[in-house]
Amino acid sequence: MGFTMGLNLLLLLAMVATNILSLYHLSSNSPSTAANNPSTASHQVPDHLIHQLTTIRATINHLTRRHHNPNSAAGNSAAAVPPADLLLYSQLSPIASACHAHPDLLHRFMNYTPFSLCPSSSDDLAETLILRGCHPLPRRRCFSRTPPKPSSSSLPQNPFPSSIPDSYLLWNRYSCKSLDCLNRMNPILGFDLGKEVTNFVSYKSELDLPVPQLMQIAKAANSVLRLGIDIGGGTGTFAARMKAYNVTVLTTTMNVFAPFSEVAALRGLVPLHAPLQQRLPVFDGTMDIVRCGRAVNRWIPTVALEFLLFDIDRVLRSGGYLWLDHFFSKGVDLEKVYAPLIGKLGYRKVKWATASKADSKSGEVFLTALLQKPVTK
Ligand SMILES: *[C@@H]1O[C@H](CO)[C@@H](O)[C@H](O)[C@H]1NC(C)=O
Repeated sequence: MGFTMGLNLLLLLAMVATNILSLYHLSSNSPSTAANNPSTASHQVPDHLIHQLTTIRATINHLTRRHHNPNSAAGNSAAAVPPADLLLYSQLSPIASACHAHPDLLHRFMNYTPFSLCPSSSDDLAETLILRGCHPLPRRRCFSRTPPKPSSSSLPQNPFPSSIPDSYLLWNRYSCKSLDCLNRMNPILGFDLGKEVTNFVSYKSELDLPVPQLMQIAKAANSVLRLGIDIGGGTGTFAARMKAYNVTVLTTTMNVFAPFSEVAALRGLVPLHAPLQQRLPVFDGTMDIVRCGRAVNRWIPTVALEFLLFDIDRVLRSGGYLWLDHFFSKGVDLEKVYAPLIGKLGYRKVKWATASKADSKSGEVFLTALLQKPVTK
């Protein structure tokens, strides 16, 4: 029966992996290592290997239990058993544990022919899995599809070029097949660079914080801005505006319905393909500013938002800025939930402006806040 066969294969693979790791463990104490580092080689404890062996043994135990009692686990059909190379990757890496919740998607993602072109459907699968917390994905040995090489002379230095040729992008995943189409469908998506160039420069309402004013505030506080992250930053317009001030901003952006990442990259801006629930891929205390645009709003579960805010706090240096730009929520929730949540960070309020959302039926409000992380004692 397919399910039992599959489990046996997994057990076999896990045991082979155990042995390979043991071999590696032994060989890492080989004379060449000792020669390179004579002082420490004799009592070198490869903790990571021991940890991996423990993980593999735990996996074997887990699988054996499932094997004896197959109805107790999710794997009650052969199709739900993940492919073998996936099992190795995900079991060795605890961070990928969210992947286990979606064996069907993973199975499709890992169903490819090695050393050839990746299946075209799999780009969407990667996006779908990442959005479900399965990140980093298992790696694959196939060639991802890329657009034709652009001519170097036509790639702009200016992040607000007058146009980007549609031929620089792959369109097969989207219902729109051109940037014009995206602009017609939703003018505020960020693909109309002629319109984007007007963002972050002028003050139209209390909720705006134009970049010249932001730079002024930082300068007056004797606080240098050089590095930042724009969370959910679409095509990277905040990073583009900051580039004019020699500030490097990374933009986290997902390719939901449109090629946000590639357009940011074509503008010469760094897109990070990271969902809101992912730990920011930079070290503690390294960023001068983090901006949260409209992607960060009341639709995010409160607990997830709390984790996000504390991760932002982790990456900000002392004296760094958190800018919540047009955060929208219900007025009552802002008062009872979000303001206390933001308050937990203990940041200084440099700016705190709220305004009712026009045409809102459920009493929604916008908040724009510039908050400064306290200087550590
Ligand atoms: C940015 O850096 C360039 C090159 O170092 C310099 O010429 C320019 O004045 C800087 N711009 C700002 C706004 O600091």
